Order: sequence, then structure tokens, then C-alpha cells
Amino acid sequence: MLPDSPTLEQYVAHAADLKQQGIAAFQGVADMDAYEAVRVDFLGDKRGRILELQRALGKLAPEDRREAGRAFNDVKGALAVAGGEKLHILQKATAQHPALDLTLPARQQWRGGKHPVTAVIDEIVGIFRELGFTVALGPESESEWYNFGALNFPADHPAMDLHDTFYLGEGALLRTHTSPVQVRTLQRHAPPIRILAPGTVFRRDPFDSSHAPAFVQLEGLAVDEGISFVDLKATLTLFARRFFGAGTRTRFRPSFFPFTEPSAEMDVECQLCGGRGCPACKGTGWMEIMGSGMVHPSVLESAGIDSERYTGWAFGMGPARIAMQRYRLPDIRLLYDSDVRFLAQVAE
Ligand code: PHE
Repeated sequence: MLPDSPTLEQYVAHAADLKQQGIAAFQGVADMDAYEAVRVDFLGDKRGRILELQRALGKLAPEDRREAGRAFNDVKGALAVAGGEKLHILQKATAQHPALDLTLPARQQWRGGKHPVTAVIDEIVGIFRELGFTVALGPESESEWYNFGALNFPADHPAMDLHDTFYLGEGALLRTHTSPVQVRTLQRHAPPIRILAPGTVFRRDPFDSSHAPAFVQLEGLAVDEGISFVDLKATLTLFARRFFGAGTRTRFRPSFFPFTEPSAEMDVECQLCGGRGCPACKGTGWMEIMGSGMVHPSVLESAGIDSERYTGWAFGMGPARIAMQRYRLPDIRLLYDSDVRFLAQVAE
């Protein structure tokens, strides 16, 4: 304690003590509460010990105040620095290790995953990439010419009806299939051409267990000299065996598309029953996975490619249908609901 009327020596000695004690006290602080207690004790502006020291200045003889004042300033500055340093250390530690409650149950990490349709597309693209195919994209808002005309649709084809297609006005529409990307690619690149074109397409279909008004298609196109139906069958069969498993049986059924001739639907044996027949394949043992065919000469010609010299084949499939088979989904709407309880079960 400082006497009521201290001498200069007493004052200076007291100040030196206070400085030492204060620095030691701040150094000994381990958390915010202790810091606050020490700060109030020494630097508090109501009863802090520094304040007392300041008040005692007035009790000194006037000629001593200069030197005493220097001692006071020295203590005050030193404690401010010691306190500031400790505060900085404490704040850094809190930022790095926010209050831990080790008794809390572990929080499960949310892991993103590929949507099943994206996973299927990526896998198919990967298989065809090894065969020399690259990915090509086209616009979702298409012109009538690319979507229908250049693909050899006759002017009165039912697919062009208002109740089948979303028209945007002035010859524009939401593409009903990814086949227009065939034409855009053929216009821009000279053969040999091997592309895959994934993308969303739009049809005025009801949203039910097996249809959606907006869905993804995956188009394939190969054009070169001397390409035949053998190449189509061999490549698509190879793909099916790579995708569904080595022993997978396939079959081609004659079909019709305006932009391919001849045309074929490709079936693979039903993945749910292994070909024995079940409700999912309506008892046939087969499931249709894509439309395909030899590119119609008039498609090549409308894109400016010599159809005497070049031939090609194309296919179009629905990755959502394939995902339904792979993940044994009873309803295609599961793929659109974005329900994490479902997605978490199939995400890769
Ligand atoms: N574009 C056709 C459809 O949407 C599929 C297809 C593509 C058929 C390429 C043959 C060749 O049904």
C-alpha cells in the first residue's frame, strides 16, 4: 500500500512493484475470464490499481510530480502492452479452437454425390470416349429447321403438332430430341465424326411414373467413309456389354425414324429379371434402351455433306430410363424430386 502522503522514492518504488505484478498477472492469464479479472484489477477505470497510482500523483510535492509522472506513464504503458499482447493471444486461440464440447455426438458429414442420371451419362460418355467419341452440345431452344426439317420430318409429321411440342414462336421451339445436334455438328465439322450429345429435351408428355415433360437424352453420331450397319450393331452391342455386363444379350428390332434408314430399336435383356420376364419388362424379358439407325442421306445432304461418299449411324437413348433399370426404380419421378432420402441411397 502507498502511504497517504508518499515520498517520491516511495512512489517510484511502488510504481515499479505494480509494473512487475501487473506484467506477471497478465502473463499468468489462461482464458478470457481471468484476463478480464486482471484487467479490471489493474486497469479498471473505477477502482483499478493504476487509477490509484494516478490519483496519488496529486499528493506528491509539486517538484516531484514530473519524475513521478514519468514512472506512472511507464507502468501504465507497460501494463497496456502486457494486457494487449495477452488479449491478442487469447483471441487467436479462440478463433482457431472455438469452444469445444467433446460430449456432443459427432455430426455426420454431408457429402455431395452425382445424381443417378448424371452418373449414367458420365459412365456412357466414358465408354464411348475410349472408342474415339467426344461430347458435343446444342441449344435447348431450337429452330424448327434443326429440330424437324433438316432431320427429314415431312411437314405434316405428328411430332410437330401443337400438343406434342412446346413452341416458343417465330419458328423457335424447345427441342423435342437431341438429334438436331447431329445436324449442327455435321455442318461445322468434316468427317470423320464421332460425337455424343447429352442434353435436356422437352415434350408435352404427362408427368407420370414413366414420363416427364423435360428429360435428358443422349445422342450418338458416327459419320465416315465406309460406315455400315455392322459398325452400328457392333459398337452398340459392345457398349451394352460394357455398361450392363459382359454376357448381356442384345437384340435389334426394325423401327422407323424420319432421319435414319434403316432404323432399329435396341433392346437389352431385362436387368430386373435377367431375361425371364417380369412386370417391369411386361413379361418380354427385354427392355428397349435406344432408337438407332443409319443416318438418312437427306440429313447428310441438308448439312452439306456428300452422302455418296459418307455414311453414318446414330442413336438416341434416355439415361433416366437406364438409371431406372440400374437402380431398380419403380417411378421416374424419383429422379426429379431431389429428395435427399432417395438420392443418398443411389449417389456415387
Ligand atoms: N431422336 C430419336 C428420339 O427422340 C432417337 C433417335 C436418335 C433415333 C438417333 C435414331 C437415331 O426418339
